[in-house]
Amino acid sequence: MSDTNVGLIGLGTMGSALALNIAEKGFNLAVTTLRPERVDAFLNDAADLHGNISDHLTGAKSPEEMVAALTSPRSLILLVPAGKAVDAIVETYAPLLEPGDTIIDAGNANFHNTRKRAELLAAKGLHFVGMGVSGGEEGARHGPSIMVGGAAESFVPIRPMIEAISAKFEGDPCADWLGPDGAGHFVKTVHNGIEYADMQLISEVYGLLRDGEAVAPKDIGVLFEGWNAGGLSSYLMEISAEILQTTDPDTGAPMVDVIKDKAGQKGTGRWTVIEALSLGQSASAIEAAVGARGWSADLAARARGEALFPGVGQKAVVFDRDDLEAALLAARIIAYAQGFQVLTAASEEYDWNVDMARVAEIWRAGCIIRSALLDDISDAFRGDLPDGRLLFAPAFHDALSKGSDAMRRVIASAIAQGLPVPGFSAALAWFDTMRQARGTTNMVQAQRDFFGAHGFERLDQSGVHHGPWGS
Ligand code: 6PG
Repeated sequence: MSDTNVGLIGLGTMGSALALNIAEKGFNLAVTTLRPERVDAFLNDAADLHGNISDHLTGAKSPEEMVAALTSPRSLILLVPAGKAVDAIVETYAPLLEPGDTIIDAGNANFHNTRKRAELLAAKGLHFVGMGVSGGEEGARHGPSIMVGGAAESFVPIRPMIEAISAKFEGDPCADWLGPDGAGHFVKTVHNGIEYADMQLISEVYGLLRDGEAVAPKDIGVLFEGWNAGGLSSYLMEISAEILQTTDPDTGAPMVDVIKDKAGQKGTGRWTVIEALSLGQSASAIEAAVGARGWSADLAARARGEALFPGVGQKAVVFDRDDLEAALLAARIIAYAQGFQVLTAASEEYDWNVDMARVAEIWRAGCIIRSALLDDISDAFRGDLPDGRLLFAPAFHDALSKGSDAMRRVIASAIAQGLPVPGFSAALAWFDTMRQARGTTNMVQAQRDFFGAHGFERLDQSGVHHGPWGS
């Protein structure tokens, strides 16, 4: 066996899948985990189930064994839960490694932590790479989208492996180095924020048809399947169509009907919103999705609310199917536009110089938000984008014009029936704000000046002014 300079720590679902992917592409890999007994089990399974692949794998039972198994420059990929586990591994391994070695955190980390870890390790001559990996278990095993951040030189030795294991879009690897320190993890965070918004919007359409028209899940699934063949083509649309046509083997009921309406979240969607606000932005469609998951957790209170204020969805409005499809496409464009705007603001704030077109390109396959739209988005960023704003890309003008009108009709009907559409409402409010040259914050400025003498700018004179309030 030739030299092994890559190690992988963490043999959970994602770690095991990524290890097999790496070995399958012909790269030697040493693996270990926090529970050393799991190493043999993994290697035995690999030998039983994937004979040739396992020739590229070796096991290590301790950090010292792991480091000794690797030739320099070493790259250690971590697939462990974000937070304390990463810090513990960094603390254990840093003294064992040599300058030029790299620790790659492939989990969903908060980019602020990635920045701190990169700084800490840089002082010891070590690289810390924050690497976003998207695509779930299937992606990790057969080709994820990979968003790399960290010192540019740390990407050079790992690039061939990263590109080989990544998904490909028409032959182009869906993996790249996107910027220094936290850039990779930030891009992954925004990816997840967009993922939250898209999932919420699809779920809202499902809700309108279920509660507004009593359409059976499988029929909604068939409708989604049709949409997936058009402009809405995407992984999330595809799985939603399949989910809605799946039956619960225990009860024979539609699978979605037996699932509790209470969504979990691990934090990446929330981080997108927090960072957006910190950067003076508002990714409102993403925020609506994060909020909706939060509200969903309040199940008991919602049951009380329904008893106190009954009458949801009783007016039997029929939603025009073309309107729903156009509205969903427009709202999806808006969610992407908000995500990319947050990314642009962060890239400027932290001097990352992220190539937005490349981000869109590496999201075209392998990741959870892969969609037909991303090809148009990357073209838009490569072309002449008015103001750098995706929202104003000529390619999306028609979809947004028609889709925003459709959104108005859909939202109006939903509201008339008392059906909540927080994602659509937030998306439309932002769109309407961005197409109104004179909004209403002149009034806010007047109020601020009235009670706090904060001053305002005038339309007709330069400088800071105050109003003649109360004089
Ligand atoms: C991906 C996913 C993945 C994970 C999300 C789910 O890109 O492969 O985004 O990272 O499924 O973190 O997050 P929640 O548990 O917060 O929904």
